[in-house]
Amino acid sequence: MKRSLALMLAGVVVAASAVTVMAQSDPLEARKALMKGNGREAGAMVKMVKGEAPFDAAKVNAAFDQWTETAAKFPSLFPANAKEGDTRALPAIWTERAKFEAEVAKFAKDVADNRAKAVANLDGLKVAIAAIGTDCGSCHETFRKPQ
Ligand code: HEC
Repeated sequence: MKRSLALMLAGVVVAASAVTVMAQSDPLEARKALMKGNGREAGAMVKMVKGEAPFDAAKVNAAFDQWTETAAKFPSLFPANAKEGDTRALPAIWTERAKFEAEVAKFAKDVADNRAKAVANLDGLKVAIAAIGTDCGSCHETFRKPQ
C-alpha cells in the first residue's frame, strides 16, 4: 500500500516536471496553449452572462483557475528566442516589457479581486466579466497581432 502510494506520487512528480520542461523548451506553444484555455473559459462565461447556459459556480471557479494560472506563468513565456514563428505576439512585448508586465499584473489583480463575487451569483459574474474582459482586450490591442 505504502509502496503503491509512493509510486503514484513519483508518477505525479514526473508528469509535473514534464510540463515544466515543455514550458521551458517551447514557451511559444506553452503561452498559446494557456491563451487558448483563456478563450475557451471566457466563452463559457459569456454564455452564462447571456443566459445561453445556466449559472454554474464550479465552472466559474474553473475559469478563474485558468486565468490565475495564465497570469502567473505568462511573463516568463516571452524569452528573447521566442519572438518569431507561428505567433501573434507583437515585438512591443520585448521593447515595452514594463508596460506588458503591467498589463499582466492588472489582469492578475482583477481576476483575484473579482473571483468571490463571480462565484457567488450571476449578477456578480456579469460585473466580473466586464472588468476582466476589458483587460483581455486592452492587452490584445497593444501586444497581439490582429488575425
Ligand atoms: C497581458 C496580455 C494579455 C492578456 C491579459 C490576455 N491576453 Fe490573450 N493573448 C495575448 C498574446 C500576446 C497573445 C498571442 C500569443 C502568441 O501567439 O504567441 C494572446 C492570444 C490569445 C488567443 C489566441 C490563442 C491561439 O493561439 O489560438 C486567445 C483566444 C486569447 N488570447 C484570449 C484571451 C482572453 C479570453 C483573455 C482574458 C480572459 C486574454 N486573452 C488575456 C496577450 C494577453
